Amino acid sequence: MTSFKEDVSLKPYNTFGIEAKAKRFIAFHTVTKLQSALAEQGSDALLVLGGGSNVLLTQDFQGLVLKNELKGIEVVEENEEHIFVKVAAGENWHEFVLHCISQQWAGVENLSLIPGTVGAAPMQNIGAYGVEIRQVFESLEALEIATGVLKTFNNKECEFGYRESVFKKALKGKFIITSVVFKLNKEASFNTSYGAIQTTLDELGVTEISIKAISDAVIHIRQSKLPDPAEIGNAGSFFKNPEIDKIDYEGLKATFLNIPSYALPSGMVKIPAAWLIEQAGWKGKTFGEIGVHKNQPLVLVNYGNGKGLDLKDLAFKIQQSVSDKFGILLTPEVNII
Ligand code: FAD
Ligand code: EPU
Repeated sequence: MTSFKEDVSLKPYNTFGIEAKAKRFIAFHTVTKLQSALAEQGSDALLVLGGGSNVLLTQDFQGLVLKNELKGIEVVEENEEHIFVKVAAGENWHEFVLHCISQQWAGVENLSLIPGTVGAAPMQNIGAYGVEIRQVFESLEALEIATGVLKTFNNKECEFGYRESVFKKALKGKFIITSVVFKLNKEASFNTSYGAIQTTLDELGVTEISIKAISDAVIHIRQSKLPDPAEIGNAGSFFKNPEIDKIDYEGLKATFLNIPSYALPSGMVKIPAAWLIEQAGWKGKTFGEIGVHKNQPLVLVNYGNGKGLDLKDLAFKIQQSVSDKFGILLTPEVNII
Protein backbone atom coordinates (compact mmCIF):
# COMPACT_ATOMS: atom_id res chain seq x y z
CA MET A 1 0.00 0.00 0.00
CA THR A 2 1.23 3.45 -0.85
CA SER A 3 1.04 5.96 1.97
CA PHE A 4 0.06 9.32 0.55
CA LYS A 5 0.59 12.44 2.65
CA GLU A 6 -2.43 14.67 2.94
CA ASP A 7 -2.93 18.43 2.89
CA VAL A 8 0.71 19.20 2.09
CA SER A 9 1.99 22.76 1.61
CA LEU A 10 3.60 23.15 -1.83
CA LYS A 11 5.43 26.36 -0.90
CA PRO A 12 8.82 24.59 -0.59
CA TYR A 13 8.21 22.83 -3.92
CA ASN A 14 7.80 25.81 -6.26
CA THR A 15 10.40 28.50 -6.95
CA PHE A 16 7.73 31.23 -7.08
CA GLY A 17 7.32 30.40 -3.37
CA ILE A 18 3.51 30.38 -3.68
CA GLU A 19 1.49 28.92 -0.83
CA ALA A 20 -0.93 26.27 -2.11
CA LYS A 21 -1.93 22.91 -0.67
CA ALA A 22 -1.94 19.50 -2.30
CA LYS A 23 -4.86 17.28 -1.27
CA ARG A 24 -2.49 14.29 -1.53
CA PHE A 25 1.29 14.15 -2.05
CA ILE A 26 3.92 11.52 -2.62
CA ALA A 27 7.63 11.62 -3.45
CA PHE A 28 8.76 8.69 -5.63
CA HIS A 29 12.34 7.37 -5.65
CA THR A 30 11.75 4.39 -7.95
CA VAL A 31 9.67 3.76 -11.06
CA THR A 32 7.99 0.85 -9.25
CA LYS A 33 6.86 3.18 -6.48
CA LEU A 34 5.51 5.59 -9.10
CA GLN A 35 3.66 2.73 -10.82
CA SER A 36 2.04 1.56 -7.59
CA ALA A 37 1.11 5.13 -6.59
CA LEU A 38 -0.59 5.56 -9.96
CA ALA A 39 -2.37 2.23 -9.65
CA GLU A 40 -3.76 3.20 -6.24
CA GLN A 41 -4.53 6.85 -6.80
CA GLY A 42 -8.01 6.37 -8.25
CA SER A 43 -9.34 9.13 -10.47
CA ASP A 44 -7.62 12.09 -8.83
CA ALA A 45 -6.09 14.82 -10.98
CA LEU A 46 -2.28 14.48 -11.17
CA LEU A 47 0.52 17.02 -11.01
CA VAL A 48 4.14 15.91 -11.50
CA LEU A 49 6.68 18.21 -9.93
CA GLY A 50 10.42 18.31 -10.47
CA GLY A 51 12.00 21.47 -9.09
CA GLY A 52 8.79 23.50 -9.47
CA SER A 53 10.75 26.18 -11.35
CA ASN A 54 8.36 26.53 -14.27
CA VAL A 55 4.96 26.44 -12.58
CA LEU A 56 2.59 29.05 -11.19
CA LEU A 57 0.19 27.59 -8.64
CA THR A 58 -3.03 29.61 -8.63
CA GLN A 59 -5.06 27.47 -6.22
CA ASP A 60 -4.89 24.47 -3.91
CA PHE A 61 -4.38 21.31 -5.94
CA GLN A 62 -7.37 19.01 -5.41
CA GLY A 63 -5.54 15.90 -6.52
CA LEU A 64 -2.27 14.01 -6.16
CA VAL A 65 1.11 15.72 -6.46
CA LEU A 66 3.89 13.35 -7.54
CA LYS A 67 7.32 14.70 -6.58
CA ASN A 68 10.07 13.23 -8.75
CA GLU A 69 13.07 11.94 -6.77
CA LEU A 70 14.41 9.39 -9.29
CA LYS A 71 18.23 9.43 -9.14
CA GLY A 72 21.14 7.97 -11.09
CA ILE A 73 23.58 8.77 -13.89
CA GLU A 74 24.91 5.95 -16.06
CA VAL A 75 27.04 5.74 -19.23
CA VAL A 76 25.13 3.38 -21.53
CA GLU A 77 27.18 3.53 -24.73
CA GLU A 78 30.35 5.03 -26.09
CA ASN A 79 32.00 5.38 -29.48
CA GLU A 80 34.90 7.44 -30.81
CA GLU A 81 32.98 10.68 -30.92
CA HIS A 82 30.13 10.37 -28.47
CA ILE A 83 29.20 9.26 -25.03
CA PHE A 84 25.59 8.27 -24.31
CA VAL A 85 24.52 9.02 -20.75
CA LYS A 86 21.25 7.91 -19.19
CA VAL A 87 20.08 10.22 -16.43
CA ALA A 88 17.19 9.60 -14.05
CA ALA A 89 14.52 12.28 -14.33
CA GLY A 90 14.79 13.50 -10.72
CA GLU A 91 18.47 14.47 -11.00
CA ASN A 92 19.11 18.20 -10.62
CA TRP A 93 19.83 19.70 -14.05
CA HIS A 94 22.69 21.99 -13.08
CA GLU A 95 24.42 19.28 -11.01
CA PHE A 96 24.24 17.05 -14.09
CA VAL A 97 25.80 19.84 -16.21
CA LEU A 98 28.63 20.20 -13.68
CA HIS A 99 29.14 16.42 -13.73
CA CYS A 100 29.45 16.51 -17.55
CA ILE A 101 32.01 19.29 -17.32
CA SER A 102 34.05 17.38 -14.74
CA GLN A 103 34.06 14.34 -17.08
CA GLN A 104 34.91 16.50 -20.16
CA TRP A 105 31.62 15.57 -21.84
CA ALA A 106 30.68 18.50 -24.05
CA GLY A 107 27.31 19.79 -25.19
CA VAL A 108 25.40 21.07 -22.17
CA GLU A 109 27.82 23.72 -20.84
CA ASN A 110 25.79 26.62 -22.32
CA LEU A 111 22.81 25.33 -20.32
CA SER A 112 24.52 25.85 -16.96
CA LEU A 113 22.55 27.07 -13.95
CA ILE A 114 19.06 26.43 -15.34
CA PRO A 115 17.01 25.40 -12.30
CA GLY A 116 14.97 22.22 -12.15
CA THR A 117 15.26 18.56 -12.96
CA VAL A 118 16.54 16.53 -15.90
CA GLY A 119 13.07 15.03 -16.44
CA ALA A 120 11.42 18.41 -16.96
CA ALA A 121 14.12 19.60 -19.38
CA PRO A 122 12.60 17.93 -22.49
CA MET A 123 9.10 19.20 -21.56
CA GLN A 124 9.90 22.63 -22.95
CA ASN A 125 13.19 21.79 -24.71
CA ILE A 126 15.10 24.04 -22.31
CA GLY A 127 17.40 26.52 -23.96
CA ALA A 128 19.83 29.30 -23.21
CA TYR A 129 22.82 31.10 -24.70
CA GLY A 130 22.51 29.64 -28.19
CA VAL A 131 21.86 25.98 -27.27
CA GLU A 132 18.72 23.88 -26.78
CA ILE A 133 18.50 20.47 -25.18
CA ARG A 134 17.32 18.93 -28.47
CA GLN A 135 20.88 19.33 -29.80
CA VAL A 136 22.18 16.75 -27.30
CA PHE A 137 19.00 14.74 -26.78
CA GLU A 138 19.02 11.08 -27.84
CA SER A 139 15.85 9.61 -26.26
CA LEU A 140 13.72 9.48 -23.14
CA GLU A 141 11.66 6.95 -21.25
CA ALA A 142 8.26 7.92 -19.94
CA LEU A 143 5.52 6.13 -18.07
CA GLU A 144 2.15 6.25 -19.76
CA ILE A 145 -0.31 7.24 -17.05
CA ALA A 146 -3.28 5.40 -18.56
CA THR A 147 -1.48 2.03 -18.83
CA GLY A 148 1.45 2.20 -16.39
CA VAL A 149 3.74 1.07 -19.23
CA LEU A 150 7.16 2.61 -20.00
CA LYS A 151 7.60 3.92 -23.55
CA THR A 152 10.67 5.27 -25.36
CA PHE A 153 10.62 8.48 -27.42
CA ASN A 154 13.41 9.44 -29.81
CA ASN A 155 14.37 13.02 -30.69
CA LYS A 156 11.93 13.29 -33.62
CA GLU A 157 9.03 11.85 -31.62
CA CYS A 158 9.45 14.55 -28.97
CA GLU A 159 8.58 17.22 -31.60
CA PHE A 160 10.87 19.79 -30.02
CA GLY A 161 10.39 23.46 -30.81
CA TYR A 162 11.20 26.75 -29.11
CA ARG A 163 10.13 26.04 -25.49
CA GLU A 164 7.90 23.26 -26.85
CA SER A 165 7.59 19.48 -27.10
CA VAL A 166 4.88 16.94 -27.78
CA PHE A 167 4.50 16.61 -23.98
CA LYS A 168 3.14 20.18 -23.79
CA LYS A 169 0.83 19.63 -26.77
CA ALA A 170 -0.75 16.39 -28.07
CA LEU A 171 0.55 14.27 -25.16
CA LYS A 172 0.01 16.87 -22.43
CA GLY A 173 -0.73 15.19 -19.09
CA LYS A 174 -0.40 11.68 -20.54
CA PHE A 175 3.20 10.70 -19.66
CA ILE A 176 5.64 11.00 -16.77
CA ILE A 177 9.24 11.22 -17.95
CA THR A 178 11.43 8.85 -15.92
CA SER A 179 14.84 9.12 -17.64
CA VAL A 180 16.64 10.87 -20.48
CA VAL A 181 19.57 9.69 -22.62
CA PHE A 182 21.94 12.45 -23.79
CA LYS A 183 24.39 12.14 -26.68
CA LEU A 184 27.38 14.17 -25.53
CA ASN A 185 30.54 14.97 -27.43
CA LYS A 186 34.04 13.81 -26.58
CA GLU A 187 35.44 16.71 -28.56
CA ALA A 188 33.86 20.08 -27.83
CA SER A 189 32.73 22.48 -30.52
CA PHE A 190 32.46 25.67 -28.51
CA ASN A 191 29.30 27.70 -28.95
CA THR A 192 30.05 31.34 -28.27
CA SER A 193 27.64 32.67 -30.89
CA TYR A 194 25.58 34.41 -28.22
CA GLY A 195 27.37 37.75 -28.02
CA ALA A 196 27.41 38.08 -24.25
CA ILE A 197 29.44 34.86 -23.84
CA GLN A 198 32.44 36.10 -25.80
CA THR A 199 32.33 39.50 -24.06
CA THR A 200 32.17 37.80 -20.66
CA LEU A 201 35.03 35.43 -21.50
CA ASP A 202 37.09 38.52 -22.39
CA GLU A 203 36.05 40.29 -19.18
CA LEU A 204 36.97 37.23 -17.13
CA GLY A 205 40.38 37.20 -18.82
CA VAL A 206 39.93 33.74 -20.35
CA THR A 207 42.64 33.10 -22.94
CA GLU A 208 42.09 29.36 -23.46
CA ILE A 209 38.52 28.39 -24.18
CA SER A 210 37.10 25.24 -22.57
CA ILE A 211 33.67 23.89 -21.65
CA LYS A 212 34.41 24.91 -18.04
CA ALA A 213 35.20 28.48 -19.15
CA ILE A 214 31.94 28.66 -21.10
CA SER A 215 29.99 27.29 -18.15
CA ASP A 216 31.64 29.85 -15.84
CA ALA A 217 30.81 32.68 -18.27
CA VAL A 218 27.18 31.57 -18.56
CA ILE A 219 26.89 31.31 -14.76
CA HIS A 220 28.39 34.79 -14.46
CA ILE A 221 25.92 36.30 -16.95
CA ARG A 222 22.91 34.53 -15.44
CA GLN A 223 23.80 35.59 -11.90
CA SER A 224 24.08 39.20 -13.01
CA LYS A 225 20.76 39.19 -14.88
CA LEU A 226 18.29 36.86 -13.25
CA PRO A 227 16.97 36.92 -9.69
CA ASP A 228 17.92 33.91 -7.56
CA PRO A 229 14.70 32.10 -6.55
CA ALA A 230 16.26 31.45 -3.13
CA GLU A 231 16.10 35.22 -2.58
CA ILE A 232 13.13 36.40 -4.69
CA GLY A 233 10.42 33.99 -5.85
CA ASN A 234 10.26 33.65 -9.64
CA ALA A 235 10.01 31.10 -12.45
CA GLY A 236 12.43 32.64 -14.96
CA SER A 237 10.95 34.13 -18.13
CA PHE A 238 7.21 34.28 -17.62
CA PHE A 239 6.43 34.62 -21.35
CA LYS A 240 8.08 33.27 -24.49
CA ASN A 241 9.75 35.67 -26.90
CA PRO A 242 7.18 36.19 -29.66
CA GLU A 243 7.93 35.25 -33.26
CA ILE A 244 6.21 37.43 -35.85
CA ASP A 245 5.96 37.65 -39.65
CA LYS A 246 8.57 39.76 -41.41
CA ILE A 247 5.85 42.01 -42.84
CA ASP A 248 4.40 42.69 -39.37
CA TYR A 249 7.92 43.39 -38.14
CA GLU A 250 8.54 45.95 -40.92
CA GLY A 251 5.26 47.62 -39.95
CA LEU A 252 6.27 47.85 -36.29
CA LYS A 253 9.74 49.08 -37.16
CA ALA A 254 8.24 52.04 -39.04
CA THR A 255 6.65 53.20 -35.76
CA PHE A 256 9.13 51.86 -33.20
CA LEU A 257 12.49 52.63 -34.77
CA ASN A 258 14.55 50.98 -32.03
CA ILE A 259 12.67 47.70 -31.80
CA PRO A 260 15.27 44.92 -31.25
CA SER A 261 14.87 41.78 -33.36
CA TYR A 262 16.49 38.49 -34.37
CA ALA A 263 15.91 37.02 -37.83
CA LEU A 264 15.06 33.31 -37.61
CA PRO A 265 15.98 30.66 -40.21
CA SER A 266 12.23 30.16 -40.76
CA GLY A 267 11.94 33.73 -42.08
CA MET A 268 10.05 34.83 -38.97
CA VAL A 269 11.41 37.52 -36.66
CA LYS A 270 11.85 37.08 -32.90
CA ILE A 271 11.20 40.12 -30.73
CA PRO A 272 12.45 40.17 -27.11
CA ALA A 273 9.38 40.11 -24.86
CA ALA A 274 11.48 41.92 -22.22
CA TRP A 275 11.69 44.95 -24.53
CA LEU A 276 7.96 44.93 -25.29
CA ILE A 277 7.12 44.73 -21.57
CA GLU A 278 9.59 47.47 -20.69
CA GLN A 279 8.20 49.76 -23.43
CA ALA A 280 4.68 49.11 -22.13
CA GLY A 281 5.88 50.61 -18.83
CA TRP A 282 5.99 47.55 -16.56
CA LYS A 283 9.71 47.22 -15.75
CA GLY A 284 10.36 47.33 -11.99
CA LYS A 285 6.70 47.92 -11.08
CA THR A 286 5.65 46.54 -7.70
CA PHE A 287 2.12 45.72 -6.60
CA GLY A 288 2.11 44.77 -2.91
CA GLU A 289 3.87 41.41 -2.60
CA ILE A 290 4.38 40.86 -6.33
CA GLY A 291 5.91 42.69 -9.26
CA VAL A 292 7.93 42.86 -12.46
CA HIS A 293 11.67 42.46 -11.90
CA LYS A 294 13.70 45.66 -11.98
CA ASN A 295 16.46 44.35 -14.27
CA GLN A 296 14.61 41.79 -16.37
CA PRO A 297 10.95 42.66 -17.04
CA LEU A 298 10.26 39.23 -18.51
CA VAL A 299 10.54 37.84 -14.98
CA LEU A 300 7.56 38.24 -12.66
CA VAL A 301 8.43 38.05 -8.98
CA ASN A 302 6.95 37.17 -5.61
CA TYR A 303 8.62 39.24 -2.87
CA GLY A 304 7.19 37.08 -0.06
CA ASN A 305 3.57 36.22 0.38
CA GLY A 306 2.28 36.91 -3.12
CA LYS A 307 -0.71 34.95 -4.38
CA GLY A 308 -0.67 32.86 -7.54
CA LEU A 309 -3.95 34.36 -8.74
CA ASP A 310 -2.55 37.90 -8.37
CA LEU A 311 0.48 36.92 -10.46
CA LYS A 312 -1.81 35.40 -13.09
CA ASP A 313 -3.84 38.62 -13.09
CA LEU A 314 -0.65 40.72 -13.46
CA ALA A 315 0.48 38.52 -16.36
CA PHE A 316 -2.90 39.04 -18.01
CA LYS A 317 -2.65 42.83 -17.64
CA ILE A 318 0.87 42.81 -19.13
CA GLN A 319 -0.37 40.67 -22.02
CA GLN A 320 -3.24 43.10 -22.59
CA SER A 321 -1.09 46.24 -22.60
CA VAL A 322 1.58 44.72 -24.90
CA SER A 323 -1.19 43.65 -27.24
CA ASP A 324 -2.76 47.14 -27.19
CA LYS A 325 0.57 48.87 -27.88
CA PHE A 326 2.19 46.48 -30.36
CA GLY A 327 -0.56 44.12 -31.56
CA ILE A 328 1.54 41.17 -30.31
CA LEU A 329 0.06 38.49 -28.06
CA LEU A 330 2.57 37.21 -25.50
CA THR A 331 2.26 33.49 -24.70
CA PRO A 332 3.14 32.30 -21.18
CA GLU A 333 6.12 29.99 -20.90
CA VAL A 334 5.31 29.12 -17.30
CA ASN A 335 2.79 26.33 -16.70
CA ILE A 336 -0.19 27.90 -14.95
CA ILE A 337 -1.85 25.35 -12.66
P1 FAD B 1 8.67 21.86 -12.90
O1 FAD B 1 8.44 23.31 -12.71
O2 FAD B 1 8.57 20.99 -11.71
O3 FAD B 1 7.63 21.33 -14.00
C1 FAD B 1 7.43 22.04 -15.20
C2 FAD B 1 6.32 21.33 -16.00
O4 FAD B 1 6.74 20.04 -16.42
C3 FAD B 1 5.05 21.09 -15.17
O5 FAD B 1 3.95 21.16 -16.06
C4 FAD B 1 5.23 19.68 -14.66
O6 FAD B 1 4.00 19.03 -14.38
C5 FAD B 1 5.95 19.01 -15.83
N1 FAD B 1 6.90 17.97 -15.41
C6 FAD B 1 7.94 18.13 -14.55
N2 FAD B 1 8.64 16.97 -14.46
C7 FAD B 1 8.02 16.09 -15.28
C8 FAD B 1 8.26 14.73 -15.62
N3 FAD B 1 9.28 14.04 -15.10
N4 FAD B 1 7.41 14.12 -16.50
C9 FAD B 1 6.37 14.80 -17.02
N5 FAD B 1 6.08 16.09 -16.74
C10 FAD B 1 6.91 16.73 -15.88
N6 FAD B 1 14.15 27.54 -18.78
C11 FAD B 1 14.83 27.54 -19.95
O7 FAD B 1 14.47 26.83 -20.89
N7 FAD B 1 15.93 28.31 -20.10
C12 FAD B 1 16.41 29.12 -19.13
O8 FAD B 1 17.40 29.80 -19.32
C13 FAD B 1 15.69 29.13 -17.90
N8 FAD B 1 16.11 29.94 -16.88
C14 FAD B 1 15.43 29.97 -15.70
C15 FAD B 1 15.90 30.78 -14.67
C16 FAD B 1 15.24 30.82 -13.46
C17 FAD B 1 15.76 31.72 -12.36
C18 FAD B 1 14.09 30.01 -13.25
C19 FAD B 1 13.39 30.00 -11.92
C20 FAD B 1 13.61 29.19 -14.27
C21 FAD B 1 14.27 29.16 -15.51
N9 FAD B 1 13.84 28.35 -16.58
C22 FAD B 1 14.54 28.31 -17.76
C23 FAD B 1 12.62 27.53 -16.44
C24 FAD B 1 12.88 26.16 -15.74
O9 FAD B 1 14.10 26.16 -15.07
C25 FAD B 1 12.85 25.02 -16.73
O10 FAD B 1 11.61 24.99 -17.41
C26 FAD B 1 13.06 23.66 -16.06
O11 FAD B 1 13.24 22.66 -17.01
C27 FAD B 1 11.91 23.29 -15.14
O12 FAD B 1 12.29 22.14 -14.40
P2 FAD B 1 11.51 21.72 -13.09
O13 FAD B 1 12.00 20.36 -12.69
O14 FAD B 1 11.59 22.77 -12.09
O15 FAD B 1 10.03 21.61 -13.67
N1 EPU C 1 15.70 43.68 -22.82
C1 EPU C 1 15.09 44.91 -22.61
N2 EPU C 1 15.02 45.35 -21.33
C2 EPU C 1 15.51 44.65 -20.29
C3 EPU C 1 16.12 43.41 -20.50
C4 EPU C 1 16.19 42.93 -21.80
O1 EPU C 1 14.65 45.58 -23.53
O2 EPU C 1 15.40 45.13 -19.15
C5 EPU C 1 15.80 43.18 -24.23
C6 EPU C 1 17.14 43.54 -24.85
O3 EPU C 1 16.90 43.88 -26.21
C7 EPU C 1 17.91 42.23 -24.75
C8 EPU C 1 16.79 41.23 -24.98
O4 EPU C 1 15.67 41.78 -24.28
O5 EPU C 1 18.90 42.13 -25.73
C9 EPU C 1 17.07 39.81 -24.53
O6 EPU C 1 17.29 39.79 -23.13
P1 EPU C 1 18.09 38.58 -22.45
O7 EPU C 1 19.39 38.37 -23.13
O8 EPU C 1 18.08 38.81 -20.98
O9 EPU C 1 17.25 37.28 -22.82
P2 EPU C 1 15.68 36.98 -22.85
O10 EPU C 1 15.24 36.95 -24.28
O11 EPU C 1 14.93 37.87 -21.93
C10 EPU C 1 15.96 34.40 -23.15
C11 EPU C 1 15.30 33.20 -22.55
C12 EPU C 1 15.96 32.86 -21.21
C13 EPU C 1 17.42 32.54 -21.48
C14 EPU C 1 18.10 33.77 -22.11
C15 EPU C 1 19.51 33.46 -22.55
C16 EPU C 1 13.02 33.08 -23.33
C17 EPU C 1 11.59 33.30 -23.03
N3 EPU C 1 13.88 33.42 -22.38
O12 EPU C 1 15.69 35.49 -22.28
O13 EPU C 1 15.32 31.71 -20.68
O14 EPU C 1 18.08 32.22 -20.28
O15 EPU C 1 17.36 34.16 -23.29
O16 EPU C 1 19.50 32.59 -23.62
O17 EPU C 1 13.35 32.60 -24.41
C18 EPU C 1 13.50 31.00 -19.32
O18 EPU C 1 13.09 30.39 -20.32
O19 EPU C 1 12.92 30.95 -18.21
C19 EPU C 1 14.72 31.80 -19.44
C20 EPU C 1 15.21 32.51 -18.42
